[in-house]
Amino acid sequence: MSSDFSIARPDALASREGTAKERMKALVVGGSGQIGGWLLRYLEARGHEATGTYSTRSFPGLTPLDAADGDAAARLIDDLHPEVVFYPAGFTWVDGCERDRAKAYGANLEQPLTVAKAAARAGARFVYFSTDYVFDGKSGPYAEADPVNPLSVYAQAKRDAEDALEAAIGDRLLTARTCWVFGPERQGKNFAYQLIRNLMQGKSMPCPSDQVSSPSYGPDVAHAVLALTEAGASGMVHVVGPEVMDRVAFARAIARAFGLDPSLIVGRPTAEIAQGAPRPLDSGLKIDRLESVLPGMMRPLDATLADFRAKLEDPALQDWVEPTTPGA
Ligand SMILES: NC(=O)c1ccc[n+]([C@@H]2O[C@H](COP(=O)([O-])OP(=O)(O)OC[C@H]3O[C@@H](n4cnc5c(N)ncnc54)[C@H](OP(=O)(O)O)[C@@H]3O)[C@@H](O)[C@H]2O)c1
Repeated sequence: MSSDFSIARPDALASREGTAKERMKALVVGGSGQIGGWLLRYLEARGHEATGTYSTRSFPGLTPLDAADGDAAARLIDDLHPEVVFYPAGFTWVDGCERDRAKAYGANLEQPLTVAKAAARAGARFVYFSTDYVFDGKSGPYAEADPVNPLSVYAQAKRDAEDALEAAIGDRLLTARTCWVFGPERQGKNFAYQLIRNLMQGKSMPCPSDQVSSPSYGPDVAHAVLALTEAGASGMVHVVGPEVMDRVAFARAIARAFGLDPSLIVGRPTAEIAQGAPRPLDSGLKIDRLESVLPGMMRPLDATLADFRAKLEDPALQDWVEPTTPGA
């Protein structure tokens, strides 16, 4: 059942810092993205051997791969022989998915399914990233086993992928549902960057006042998913920040942390904002399951915002993280 969860090596959960006890060989499809970039950094820091791919945004050290080319993906897996394939990739623009159903299903269902089957044939495990949008937002926050009801094309493709992957590769699969991912990243395109850049330029930022979810710090999402993978986790797990809040409260917390003017954040009901795809309103995810095995791994919002600022100023990350400064 897709709501099951198990940990094959619970002892591996104890060592979160330093190098891992057992070295893994990993492939990260979507290494140029937000979560994929942090997965690669943590894999390296933990002493694992990792290869990351990009599709359209090339960065040093990454291997080109368009997962639409299933043969190329299978060749890469056969060449590398990874023990685990992380798939933080896909067509993640929710409104774009509503307009281009074929692309949404190709990138979020068919391509990961092809790659997962190739991974399983090569004896590797597969880690997929899904979303709280599989729920309808009538009574969040949601636990892993709560009934789903996707509202948008993006969400339906993600939900279909959860099921199809489980049917295809069974307990070789770990699915991590996350939401509202923010923080330092190489492409500098997540909500926090957009907000900070707008406010720095004195521009107002309309935000839906009635959309509620769990802000999730990208580095913590990647760190937690890697820790679960080292412990041989399989099944379904929610990996999000510990607080549930509306988008305006989230935006104001970011503005405060970066010393920016929160009065430029303008709350509007979803019904008044033309977003293209329907969104769950009262959403967010419960993390009791994650907390039961990795307590405190997902830090509170204020701590992660302080870490976000520190990482932007960290000399060791200057060539890696995109600055938040407009036009930089
Ligand atoms: N961000 C969120 O708030 C959020 C919330 C819920 C779930 N998720 C899920 O978490 C995962 C990671 O999200 P993210 O925010 O890190 O995404 P992201 O920053 O948008 O990165 C997406 C990655 O997918 C790659 N990609 C796109 N099309 C590809 C293709 N045809 N073949 C191979 N790679 C391809 C991109 O490569 P290029 O950039 O090089 O083209 C990029 O590396 C996604 O599956 C997303 O659905 C994210």
